[in-house]
Amino acid sequence: MPTLLILNGPNLNLLGTREPEIYGRDTLEDIYRGLRETFPGVEFQTFQANGEGALIDRLHEARSGVDGVVFNPGAYTHTSIALFDAIKAVGLPVIEVHLSLPEAREPFRRHSFITPACKGKIAGLGPLGYRLAAQALLDMLGESP
Ligand code: DQA
Repeated sequence: MPTLLILNGPNLNLLGTREPEIYGRDTLEDIYRGLRETFPGVEFQTFQANGEGALIDRLHEARSGVDGVVFNPGAYTHTSIALFDAIKAVGLPVIEVHLSLPEAREPFRRHSFITPACKGKIAGLGPLGYRLAAQALLDMLGESP
């Protein structure tokens, strides 16, 4: 059974109530449930942290037992060379996901430090982006759910 890590960065624990006009009304738990319903043959590990170090540590831990990572780095997308380095260091396939379309928002969201370390990127499609990213990883891994 393939194992995917769903990794979420700062402030995403507040999904559901956080700026719903931008991020929608689904909570992280709703997003996780949607993934498990869509891909019953996949083991999902989930982790959310507000701190950069915890996200880096979780990526390191994923070297053992995880086949691919769906990663929404939140605002660290636009600031974190350390997360770029961590993705490169662990060598796992990572798909970057954003609920909103950062490029269509404030200018400071237009640059991602994360993208060059990733296999792909999905943005602006809300929770569907997580499911599309999981599907892409499964395709890359040669798994057909
Ligand atoms: C986000 C976009 C980021 O710019 C922002 O800082 C977030 C959420 C998204 O999912 O749309 O926290 O990653």
